Amino acid sequence: MKLAVSGKGGVGKTTIAALLASELAARGYRVTAIDADPNPTLASALGFPTPPTTSLLDLRAEIEERVGGSDGFIRLNPRVDDLVERVAVAHGGIQLIVAGAISRGGAGCACPQNVLLRRLLDHVVLERDEAVVIDLEAGLEHLGRRSAQAADALLVVVDASRSSLETAARIRRLAGEIGVARVLAVANKVRGPEEEASLPGSLDGIELIAAIPYSDALAQAERAGEPVTGADPAAQAAAARLTDALQIRCERRVSV
Ligand SMILES: Nc1ncnc2c1ncn2[C@@H]1O[C@H](COP(=O)(O)OP(=O)(O)O)[C@@H](O)[C@H]1O
Ligand SMILES: [Mg+2]
Repeated sequence: MKLAVSGKGGVGKTTIAALLASELAARGYRVTAIDADPNPTLASALGFPTPPTTSLLDLRAEIEERVGGSDGFIRLNPRVDDLVERVAVAHGGIQLIVAGAISRGGAGCACPQNVLLRRLLDHVVLERDEAVVIDLEAGLEHLGRRSAQAADALLVVVDASRSSLETAARIRRLAGEIGVARVLAVANKVRGPEEEASLPGSLDGIELIAAIPYSDALAQAERAGEPVTGADPAAQAAAARLTDALQIRCERRVSV
């Protein structure tokens, strides 16, 4: 399963990516988690005892050497697997890669760091034989067409706020433009069945596949810098239902 998680800032992308990655690991998948947010927090959410010291985009010399840029020429398909091995750290059956922040240049520019980040996502989605969970920013600019089309689903996290629902609609349009096969919604911080029932009508046709309840224990774990996995049995059970729903929709069909 190759999954990317998006949604408005603060809605719970990292929390859900962590719950999902640990649930997949518990089910026996080999899991690679990618923190593609320039402000990385996934290591902490997953309870990594020693967070990665180097992010992929910190490898300046290697990026310069492989992607180029200073001579005005950019190589778009650099090798990345060995760089991944250098920055990846493992804990609890999950291999984590922190992408890091792009230091200059606007979104969509062909600067070398952008090229490498896009190449990383292509690599994990297209070339690695394991479950992949990508914690994205609200935008999709680093998801190139190839990985967008090959990913099993783009999960859009929403809460009951109008702004998160508007962001979800925007993400869906962007996803359509780059050919994402499946856009699915997860509701987070849900305060009761009434709120959950009100959401599908505001989702502009995006299928809502699971709801994670509002949980003081999750918020408390985040404040304390403790892992969100295992912080709250109700949230973990909801993450298990989310994983079931994803498996039903995304498991690759085996031809007979
Ligand atoms: N189900 C939940 N219940 C309560 N608080 C939550 C829940 N999910 C996330 N949070 C809290 O909301 C804040 C933002 O979550 P985070 O996962 O970092 O969002 P994002 O990655 O989308 O910016 C954090 O303080 C987190 O602990
Ligand atoms: Mg986050």
